[in-house]
Amino acid sequence: MTELSSLNAIFDRRFSCRGFLNTPVERSVIAQIIQTAQKVPSWCNSQPWQVHLLSPQKRDDLSARLMDAALAGQETPDIAFPQRYSGAYKHRRSVCGWQLYDAVGVEKGDRDGSRRQMLENYRFFGAPHVAVISTPRELGPYGVLDCGAFVTAFTLAATAAGVATIPQAAIAGMSPIVRKVINLADDRDVLCAISFGYVDTDHPANQFRTNRADLDEVLIDVD
Ligand SMILES: Cc1cc2nc3c(=O)[nH]c(=O)nc-3n(C[C@H](O)[C@H](O)[C@H](O)COP(=O)(O)O)c2cc1C
Repeated sequence: MTELSSLNAIFDRRFSCRGFLNTPVERSVIAQIIQTAQKVPSWCNSQPWQVHLLSPQKRDDLSARLMDAALAGQETPDIAFPQRYSGAYKHRRSVCGWQLYDAVGVEKGDRDGSRRQMLENYRFFGAPHVAVISTPRELGPYGVLDCGAFVTAFTLAATAAGVATIPQAAIAGMSPIVRKVINLADDRDVLCAISFGYVDTDHPANQFRTNRADLDEVLIDVD
């Protein structure tokens, strides 16, 4: 097995988990996942990410507050959400959305069902652990870029450790609440959460895998 095929095996096992077991992950394993993810490159080695890891009590407190805000329809992210997805982006978004709905049995036009699935975000899909990832505002989009690399590496390191993950921008939409619960410094922006734990392999939401674009949609040779 070449190193690339070993790496691919980890990439192929990773997926966004939307149904977790209660079983907590040992603290030493969480520390190893974070330390592995810290190995990603960042501009001038600034390593701008911070990880706020919630205790079970804080997780439940945040969940209750987010659920109330979601039901009230509030949305105020620190970093603006995309205004629209068009063309291929719109198509890919729709495909993965329908994969999820099909898996959990939400049919076209079932607004209650799609809303119920959306609200699962604020239960963190039953994950025992929630980490909030933040970026220093002064580093702007390049800080966000570096933190994105960290988020990806976190998910892959976790996969290698047998731990399932899901990055969640949904919680960044409720930034004022998140900031308050984790007591985030004024000079940082909430990027996303990563909910993680052990996969519930029987959960309907975990029964599909997303696809990827063909190479010719991504690779542009410049002659
Ligand atoms: C930055 C980021 C934010 C995301 N936010 C959410 C979210 O709020 N809720 C959700 O269900 N999935 C979320 N996802 C998961 C994506 O939907 C998922 O990565 C994508 O559909 C590809 O599927 P895969 O991760 O299973 O390969 C997010 C992923 C990333 C990288």
